[in-house]
Amino acid sequence: MDKNVIITGASRGIGAATAKLLAAKGYGVCINYRSRSQDAEQVLAAIRAAGGRAMALAADVSVEEEVTRLFEAAEAQLGPVTHLVNNVGILATQSPLVDISLERFNHILTTNVTSCFLCSREAARRFEAGGAIDNVSSAAARTGAPNEYVDYAASKGAMDSLTLGLAKELAPKGIRVNAVRPGLIHTEIHADGGEPGRVDRLASRIPLGRGGDPEEVANAIAWLLSDEASFVTGSLLDVAGGF
Ligand SMILES: NC(=O)c1ccc[n+]([C@@H]2O[C@H](COP(=O)([O-])OP(=O)(O)OC[C@H]3O[C@@H](n4cnc5c(N)ncnc54)[C@H](OP(=O)(O)O)[C@@H]3O)[C@@H](O)[C@H]2O)c1
Repeated sequence: MDKNVIITGASRGIGAATAKLLAAKGYGVCINYRSRSQDAEQVLAAIRAAGGRAMALAADVSVEEEVTRLFEAAEAQLGPVTHLVNNVGILATQSPLVDISLERFNHILTTNVTSCFLCSREAARRFEAGGAIDNVSSAAARTGAPNEYVDYAASKGAMDSLTLGLAKELAPKGIRVNAVRPGLIHTEIHADGGEPGRVDRLASRIPLGRGGDPEEVANAIAWLLSDEASFVTGSLLDVAGGF
């Protein structure tokens, strides 16, 4: 059976790198994004130019009806969806706890965790044995991100718990669930946090002495989804240069 994967938040960064890599490995790829259609179209064009099968679809994956629509559209265009990468994640401006509003906290949790819940639930309803889910968590789940974004860190801790629980719950159906926990990776997310140069500023604290590239995270995701990882489930794989 063909392998078809939905990658949430794949218009740029780690999601885009994962989309290109999985397409090169033969997956049909659904590039999900929220609003940057030009970026998504570029990822789509690159995959098609390389001979891959792909589609792009805007959908806010923190909204239940949008997730249903996403899975239905992917299945209609690619065939049965067999794999899922819950990659969507946002953060807000670096702030201490006392300056984080309730609205911000709820927005971060809804975008990062509710999306993971909704997409995983849809996958669990549809996937057959051999299917796999990979959640893109963060090293922040371990560090807690004090004085910067404890809301973001908490959302990633919740993703880790979902990974552990769903791995056990879906194992009897032959569906594996794992997570990668990237460290400091060169993407545009850091500009959203108010510091585009954050990775380079903190590079000296990373044992390997540098920030990571999105492709290095994509390699770990691809392995966890692959049959080479057939006995791996419920794992939280740090991709953080030792950080
Ligand atoms: N970069 C790092 O250093 C790092 C470290 C640890 C963990 N991570 C995690 O890795 C994942 C990817 O990070 P990144 O740095 O590659 O992010 P990024 O470059 O900021 O890209 C985020 C992607 O998510 C999409 N998105 C945001 N909200 C969405 C929603 N509600 N529905 C659908 N799509 C949505 C964006 O689409 P639009 O462009 O259309 O808005 C974009 O494609 C995130 O979960 C992040 O927390 C990143």
